[in-house]
Amino acid sequence: MITPTESEDNQIVKAALMEILQQKNRLTFAEFMELALYHPKGGYYNNRSSLIGARGDFYTAPQLTPVFGELIALQLKEMWERLGQPSNFAIVEMGAGQGTLAGDILLYLKANAPQLWENLVYRIVEISPILAEAQAHRIGVLPDGADLLKHVAWVGWDEIASDSVIGCFLSNELVDAFPVHLVSVSNGKLQEIYLTQNEAGELVEETGELSTPALETYFKTLGLDIASYEEDYRTEVNLHASPWLSRVAEKLQRGYILTIDYGYEAKSRFHPRRMSGTLQCYYRHQVSHNPYLNLGNQDITAHVDFSTLLNTGVALGLTTPGLISQAEFLGGLGIGEHFVQMSASTNSPNEVLAQREALLRLISPNEMGNFKVLLQVKNAPLEPTLSGWSACV
Ligand SMILES: C[S@@+](CC[C@H](N)C(=O)[O-])C[C@H]1O[C@@H](n2cnc3c(N)ncnc32)[C@H](O)[C@@H]1O
Repeated sequence: MITPTESEDNQIVKAALMEILQQKNRLTFAEFMELALYHPKGGYYNNRSSLIGARGDFYTAPQLTPVFGELIALQLKEMWERLGQPSNFAIVEMGAGQGTLAGDILLYLKANAPQLWENLVYRIVEISPILAEAQAHRIGVLPDGADLLKHVAWVGWDEIASDSVIGCFLSNELVDAFPVHLVSVSNGKLQEIYLTQNEAGELVEETGELSTPALETYFKTLGLDIASYEEDYRTEVNLHASPWLSRVAEKLQRGYILTIDYGYEAKSRFHPRRMSGTLQCYYRHQVSHNPYLNLGNQDITAHVDFSTLLNTGVALGLTTPGLISQAEFLGGLGIGEHFVQMSASTNSPNEVLAQREALLRLISPNEMGNFKVLLQVKNAPLEPTLSGWSACV
C-alpha cells in the first residue's frame, strides 16, 4: 500500500486518478506522472504559478541569481556572431518556468548587444498556460518591460515551421520534467511498474509486462542488459526525450540546441548500483522519493540520460563540442570574474555574501555544478570553440 497518510493532495488530480483507475484498472507510471504534473486544471505545473524559488518547492539556477541568465546571454551573443550575425536570429526557450531566465537574457541583450537586439525574437514554448501568464508578468515588470515584451512571442510547438529557426533552442531543466516509465528487474526479466488500486481502494504498485517494446529497445540501443542486474533493480525510462530532440532539430535550420539539466551518460545513469533509480520529488524545499505523496502539489523529476540525447543527435546529423558540467560551462563564460567583481563591489557586506553564495551554488559539485550542459549544432561551425566549451579545448 502506497497511499500516504499525510499528503496534501490536489483533489482534482486525485479524483481524475481514481476515475481513470476505475475505467482502466492500471496506469503506467508515465501516465500517472503526466496526470500529476500536467492535468489541465490540477496538475502541478497547471495549478499555480509560484513553484520555483523561495516561495515555491525548489530552486533552479535562474532563480538563484541573474548572473546565470547573463552568462547564457553572453553565449547566445557569441552564437549569433558565429552564425554571421543574421538579422533573423531567434532564441526559442522551451519550458520557461516563471520567466526569470528569459527576463535576464532579454535585459542583458538589450543593454549589451544593440545590433542583435534590434530584430531579436525571443520565442517561448510553454506547456502551462498559468506559467506562460507568469512569464509575461515577470518580463513586463522589469525595467523597460513593455519594450522587452515586444521582442517576446509565446508559441505552440506546431507553430514553429520545419527548417525555420536560425538561432538557438534553449532549455533549463525541461527534459527531467517529461513523464517517465518505471521499469524493474523481476524474476530476471525487465518488467514495468504500474499503479493500481487494491481491494480496499488503496493505491498500490503492480509489476507486469512492458507496456511497449520501446522500453526494451531503449536499453538495447544503449548496449545495456538491465535484465541481468540484481533482482528489484528499478529505474526510469524517458521515452519523450528522443522525439523531443528530433522535433527541435527538424525545426532548426542553422544553429544550436543548448540543453541544461541534471543527469548522466547512460553507464552512470543506469549503473547497477543505482538500485532505486533517480526519481526525486520536491515539495516546499523538501526532497522525497515518493511520487505518490502530495498528488498534483509536488514536482516529480527523473535524471536525464544524456547518452540517449547524444545518440539521437548523432542519428540526426547534429554535431557536438561535448557534454560538459555546468561548472565548466559557466567557468568558460567568466563566472570567476563575476566572483571577483562582486567581492569588490560597493554593496553591503551581507548583500555581497548572499550573491557570492548564489554563484557558488551554481558551480559547486554538491549543488548545481554537476548539472550537464549539452550543445548540439546544426549547419554551423564548431570552430572557433564557443567560450562555454573552452574547457574542451
Ligand atoms: C522544472 S521547470 C523549469 C523552469 C525554468 N526553465 C527554470 O529553469 O526555472 C520545467 C518547465 O518546463 C515546462 N514544460 C514541461 N513540459 C513541457 C513541454 N512538453 N513543452 C513545453 N514546456 C514544458 C513546465 O511547465 C515548466 O515551465
